[in-house]
Amino acid sequence: MMNLPLVLRGDRQTFLVVGGGQVAQRKIHTLLASECRLVVVAEQLPVALQQQLAERADSCWQSVDADEQLDMADASFVVLATDDHALNEALAIKARQQGCKVCRVDQTDDNDFIFPAVVDRSPVLVAVSSSGSSPALTRHLKERLEAFLPLEYRELGSMMQSLRQRIKEKLPPPQRAAFWRRWMNSNVPELVLGRQPQRAQALSEQLIAGDEGQGGEVYLVGAGPGDPDLLTFRALRLIQSADVVYYDRLVNPRILEFIAPQAERFYVGKAKSDHAVPQEGINQLLVTSAQQGKRVLRLKGGDPFIFGRGGEEIEQLADAGIPFQVVPGITAASGCAAYSGIPLTHRDYAQSVRFVTGHLKNGSCNLPWHELIHPQQTLVIYMGLTGIPVICEQLIEHGMPPETPIALIEKGTLPDQQVHVSTVAEMPDYVASHQLQAPTLTIVGDVVSLYSRLAWFNG
Ligand SMILES: C[S@@+](CC[C@H](N)C(=O)[O-])C[C@H]1O[C@@H](n2cnc3c(N)ncnc32)[C@H](O)[C@@H]1O
Repeated sequence: MMNLPLVLRGDRQTFLVVGGGQVAQRKIHTLLASECRLVVVAEQLPVALQQQLAERADSCWQSVDADEQLDMADASFVVLATDDHALNEALAIKARQQGCKVCRVDQTDDNDFIFPAVVDRSPVLVAVSSSGSSPALTRHLKERLEAFLPLEYRELGSMMQSLRQRIKEKLPPPQRAAFWRRWMNSNVPELVLGRQPQRAQALSEQLIAGDEGQGGEVYLVGAGPGDPDLLTFRALRLIQSADVVYYDRLVNPRILEFIAPQAERFYVGKAKSDHAVPQEGINQLLVTSAQQGKRVLRLKGGDPFIFGRGGEEIEQLADAGIPFQVVPGITAASGCAAYSGIPLTHRDYAQSVRFVTGHLKNGSCNLPWHELIHPQQTLVIYMGLTGIPVICEQLIEHGMPPETPIALIEKGTLPDQQVHVSTVAEMPDYVASHQLQAPTLTIVGDVVSLYSRLAWFNG
């Protein structure tokens, strides 16, 4: 490493910025985010920045010419950001003679320090630097990290900061390190990130008191329709932190790769006729694993509360007094609609949308047909593939125009997604003569006619 990243205590430093252009303004903004004393020398400065400087006790703007009379005596760090190369050069020499460290924005190989890109979760800071080689790469990495680190890391950092002294007084160094490892591996961080501060505080106190906090927890998480990029940040975090995972058939194996290597994982089925573990058995497994103190991830395709029996599973948890949290996922209707270019509502075609299941508990397909026939309503049918002949026949019998467009989206959002479009009159023959595979979602309504214009995803 030619460069050494350090964290400076801002409130003990004086920075001098020379220049008032775009680049200088960016540096001023960065410095204003810290508690440093800041002197800006520039002929002109936007009013908002002038005000911000005026509001800070020790900071100021001096609208003087940045010539060689400049007083740098108080500054430890000088940022030279004028557009006059010769002036920057002269000021750099002078600043160094006075013992200041210099950052020149026009001459990156003549810098004593540079500014990293910062992800601010104060007190936690993540600084990214490419050592001046590529600001674009630095920005890109910062954006990635921003997206990945929830704002709640601030709370987590503050909580740990407030506990530090207490733990220091209570435990000698070797036990202290072990305590913090236990604390970080407990459910406390996840409770803080999941915005449950009271539970986090209670569990933290339990751990400080020496109680290992035996209680487990269940995360009921929607894994979305297939494309791993459609996971939520929270889903990904919980997948990575679970001790044991129970997953369904519809969860993409690429998503299972995010599970920690040491975590146990169990396939519990859920194909129409393949319940590797019956529903009651799954409910009981969740309870038992949590009672063993584990962080249990129940991972389901799509959204757990949409035709996912998520409600049934957490009912049993609630009865057993097991803490749980539910993380929504992108349901197949949203995923398939988006990836096939069929908007579920559209002002010209449909003002409402209705989700129904084509597969009922007793294996029949006994839907309230009258309610489904509505002009300007899109019908989305989950689990409807085998019922297509009955569904289409009943829809027409109950008044739906036979030429109504219908789409079957096979393996929606996955690289081998297929979209099959026909009319309700002709779809049964189409399905009979094509080898469609599950999972397949059915969309019925005039919005389907937009497919030919709006399709964009080619897998
Ligand atoms: C038991 S339901 C589960 C639905 C899930 N909870 C959700 O919110 O998407 C399973 C049905 O969802 C639909 N489905 C799920 N993922 C799909 C996908 N990637 N492509 C097409 N249909 C899908 C199919 O109709 C499948 O039969």
